[in-house]
Formats: sequence, structure tokens, C-alpha cells
Amino acid sequence: LYPRRLQQPQDKVSVTAGETLTLTCTMSGVGPVGPVKWLKGWGSGNETVYDLVGYFPRVTRVVSESNTDFSIRIRDVRPEDAGTYYCVKFSKRLGGLDVFRRGKGTVVSPNPPPPVVSGPVNRTGLGQRVPFTCTAGGFFPKEIDVKWFKGKDRISVQPPSITLGRTKSSYDMSSTAAVTLQEDDVRSQLVCEVRHSTLTTPLRGTYRLSKALRVSPSVSVVADVLSPVEVNKNMNFTCHVKRFYPGDVAVAWLENGMEIKVENISQPVETPRGLFELRSVVEVQATEEKNGSVFTCRVVHDAQDPVSGTATLWIAAPARGGSSVSLLSSPGLWLGILLEKGLLGGLLIFLFKRARA
Ligand SMILES: *[C@@H]1O[C@H](CO)[C@@H](O)[C@H](O)[C@H]1NC(C)=O
Ligand SMILES: *[C@@H]1O[C@H](CO)[C@@H](O)[C@H](O)[C@H]1NC(C)=O
Ligand SMILES: *[C@@H]1O[C@H](CO)[C@@H](O)[C@H](O)[C@H]1NC(C)=O
Ligand SMILES: *[C@@H]1O[C@H](CO)[C@@H](O)[C@H](O)[C@H]1NC(C)=O
Repeated sequence: LYPRRLQQPQDKVSVTAGETLTLTCTMSGVGPVGPVKWLKGWGSGNETVYDLVGYFPRVTRVVSESNTDFSIRIRDVRPEDAGTYYCVKFSKRLGGLDVFRRGKGTVVSPNPPPPVVSGPVNRTGLGQRVPFTCTAGGFFPKEIDVKWFKGKDRISVQPPSITLGRTKSSYDMSSTAAVTLQEDDVRSQLVCEVRHSTLTTPLRGTYRLSKALRVSPSVSVVADVLSPVEVNKNMNFTCHVKRFYPGDVAVAWLENGMEIKVENISQPVETPRGLFELRSVVEVQATEEKNGSVFTCRVVHDAQDPVSGTATLWIAAPARGGSSVSLLSSPGLWLGILLEKGLLGGLLIFLFKRARA
């Protein structure tokens, strides 16, 4: 009377956590009155994954309302979804349900999500040892292998700490690596590599060290003319802000501690090594009253204490009594005059001797 067939063709489904899983179940023929449900596990401890009447927010039917296709989709698969799923046709009887047919079961093994590497809350300066943490969850059995790399270089670490997961059916691990930050780490990447018996290829979590790193600038101020400067001459001081990361800086100029307005502060330029540099020019007229003035270039980088560079403007003593006096103060000129007088003297003596001869 009931040549009814229930087919659950999938033996095993492997899916990455967070993705959607499809479980297939079809039925043909005529059957008794009664619902079709999906159960996880069999016997005591089974769990209803889907039936028509309950509320299963992550589960939808592939073909809603169908009388032959009872396939379902489970979205946002989690590690705790691991188990054997059965498609079951029940027959109704007075006061309850009997199992009429069941599929052979589909083993669902969610792959653990890739490990996640986290770093410090705030950036840290060069030469400091900074802890990084790699976490991975939802694996079973307990044995897991964790390796760390900075670029291609292996970092040695303590064995990971392994704890029972939230659902007690899988394990979580946490591994810590201490890394000393260096200037060229702006372009480096940390890799946490996890190997487990359920994985065909290792899973990797990565962390760009530029997120954790701060390289403070070096600041220097250079004048474009030799000191002392000729009085009333225009000259430039250039502030060189070199090798910093990240690229945000605020540059201010001060003259004897008082802030002065500066028109052109260039944008930071990225160097091939990933660090930044910048220059700022201030033009100054070397008036006599500016003699001994201190010019400071003050750089605030990444909310740290300012880094400054300074230069002092020295103005040459003005030549008293006009330019001839200043010329006579030149030893070269004196030498020239002496030579000239000597030659003239020699010529006069020569002419005098010739006249006498
Ligand atoms: C599922 O579990 C319930 C409650 O433990 C039990 O009454 C029922 O018989 C189980 N069903 C199957 C199909 O194992
Ligand atoms: C991070 O920086 C902020 C602001 O500079 C500071 O208040 C906070 O304490 C720092 N956090 C850590 C963990 O160092
Ligand atoms: C100072 O620098 C600016 C811009 O770099 C330039 O235009 C100006 O001619 C320079 N002044 C002197 C005195 O060199
Ligand atoms: C500037 O100061 C220096 C050092 O005190 C001094 O030698 C020089 O003569 C001064 N120049 C002027 C223009 O006063």
C-alpha cells in the first residue's frame, strides 16, 4: 500500500563556517499522513533541526511547500552544527508520531574558520616587544599545530593554550607570539598557520605589522646659505621630517618660541620602503634685529610628544663706512694690492735702470 521511498543522497558535507549548507532529501510515492522533519543525531539527544511548525531562523526549505523535495538550507554554519543529519518521515497515530522512513544520514563537518590574529590596541615604537595573539575555534579533535611567521621567517612560540569551546563539543586555541618591531616592518606581515587533522590544507590568519607600528620622525632644520648671513638678504630654512609612519604629521614653525605663519608645508611623500617624509620651507629676511633668532620646526606625529629641530640665524656684522671698507677687510685683496705695488715698483726700477743705461 505504501511503496514510498525516501532518499537522502549525501553521505558527507564539508562546509566552511559562516557559509550556507544544503542538505538534500526527496520522497516519491504515496505515504501515510504525517510530517517530514530533519533531525540532528539519532536516539536520545537528537535535536529537531527543521519541521514545518517550529521556528528555525537559520533554516529554509529549498523548494517551499513541495511534497516531494524536503531539502533544506542552513545558513551561517557554525562549528557546533557538526553532526549527522537525518531526514525523517513520520506517520501520525493517535497521540503521537511514529518513524515511518528515514534517510541514511548526512555527516556535516564544518571546517573551522581561519585563525584570527590580533595586535596591540595602540601603536608601538621601534625596538619594543609586542605580543600578538592568534585564536582559532571550533575544531575537534583537540590536537592542533600552530606555527608563526614574520614574512618568511619562522617565529618560535610556546605551545598554544587549548580550551573547551562554548558548546563543549569542540576546542578553541589561543597562541601568543612576541615580536620586536623594526623599521622595515611597515611592509611585513605576521602569519599564524594552523594545521589540523580535519584540514586538507593549513589555515592562515594574517596581520599587517604596519597596523601596530609607529616610526617617529627625525627632524632637522637646514639653512640654504652659509652662516653668517649677509644683512637684509632673503634666505630659506628647510625643515626635513624624515622616516615616519604612519603618514600623518602636523608641522609648525616657531621663531624664538613664538609660532609663525608658514605658507607651504608639503604633503608627506611615501618612500619605497613604506615610510613617509616631508619638508617645509620658511623664508626669512635676515634683518639685523633677527640676529641670534632661533627657528624651530616642531613636528607632532601620531599624537606623540613633539619632535623638534632648530637652527639659529647669525647675521654678519655690517661693514662700517661703506663697501670699500668691507673690501679692505679682505686679506685676498690686500695680497692683490701688495702684489700690484710690488710689480709696479719692479717696473719702475726696471724703467729707471734702462733710462740710466
Ligand atoms: C528524539 O529525542 C526524543 C526526546 O529525547 C525522543 O523521545 C525521540 O524518540 C527521539 N527520536 C528519535 C528519532 O530518536
Ligand atoms: C591607548 O592610547 C590611549 C590614548 O593615547 C590611552 O588612553 C590608552 O590607555 C592606551 N591603551 C593602551 C592599552 O595602552
Ligand atoms: C625659498 O624657497 C621658496 C620655495 O621653495 C622659493 O620660491 C624661494 O625663491 C626661496 N628663497 C630664497 C631666498 O632662496
Ligand atoms: C650677530 O651676533 C653675533 C654674535 O653675537 C655677532 O658676532 C655679530 O656681530 C652680530 N651681527 C650683527 C649684525 O649685529
